[in-house]
Amino acid sequence: MWTVKSTSMKWFIIFVFILATAVKCSASDIKEKKQIKQEAARFTKCNEKYVSDCYAITRRVKRGEPYRTNCSTISKHAWGNNVTMRGEILIDGLAIEIVRGEICDLLKIDWVYNFTMTYSNVRHCPYKAGYYAFFNIELPPRNMPQNILKLIKGQFTTNVYFLLTKTGETIIEMTVTLRT
Ligand SMILES: *[C@@H]1O[C@H](CO)[C@@H](O)[C@H](O)[C@H]1NC(C)=O
Ligand SMILES: *[C@@H]1O[C@H](CO)[C@@H](O)[C@H](O)[C@H]1NC(C)=O
Ligand SMILES: *[C@@H]1O[C@H](CO)[C@@H](O)[C@H](O)[C@H]1NC(C)=O
Repeated sequence: MWTVKSTSMKWFIIFVFILATAVKCSASDIKEKKQIKQEAARFTKCNEKYVSDCYAITRRVKRGEPYRTNCSTISKHAWGNNVTMRGEILIDGLAIEIVRGEICDLLKIDWVYNFTMTYSNVRHCPYKAGYYAFFNIELPPRNMPQNILKLIKGQFTTNVYFLLTKTGETIIEMTVTLRT
C-alpha cells in the first residue's frame, strides 16, 4: 500500500503527528510516568536465503539496571532501499503499524539515525554483506515518539520485520514483549 518512498515517509510523519496530538489531551490524566519494560526479544524468522546466525538476548547486566537487548545477524547480501523495515504493535490481536520505510530512507528520521549510530555498528547506506549488531538497546528506544505506547496498559507485543521491498518476502522477523 505504501510502496512509494515519499508517500510512506509522509504517512509516517502524519501518523506520528496525529498520535502526538491525540495523546496530549489525555496526557494530563496520566499522573505518574509509566515505565515500559522489555521482555525477551527473539527472532521468530531468519530467512536463510538472506541471513544467518540471528541471535538475540535480553537481560539485565546488573541488578537494578533496566533490561537491555543485544541482537545480531549476518547478512548474505548488500542491503539498500531494496529492503524495507516495518514495525507494528499488537493490541488485542490487532496489528497497528507504527513505522515503515525503506531502510536507507528511514535513517533520515532523526531518532532512527540517532538510535542506530548510538547502539549499532550499522553506518551508511547501502550496507555491505556482513555482520550487523545492536548492543545494549533499551526498548522502546528512548527518543522514539512513544505517545501511542503510553496509552497501552499491560503487556503487548511488538514485531519488527525486514522485508524485500519488491516482493514483501520476509528476511527477518523479530518479536519483543513490552510491559507497562
Ligand atoms: C551485549 O554485548 C556487549 C559486548 O559483547 C556486552 O558487553 C553486553 O553485556 C551485552 N549485553 C547484553 C544485554 O547481553
Ligand atoms: C539489494 O540491492 C543490491 C544492489 O543492487 C544487491 O547487491 C543486493 O543483493 C540486494 N539485496 C537483497 C537482499 O536482495
Ligand atoms: C543522540 O541524541 C543524544 C541526545 O539528544 C545526543 O547527546 C547524541 O549526541 C546523539 N547522537 C548522535 C550520534 O546523533
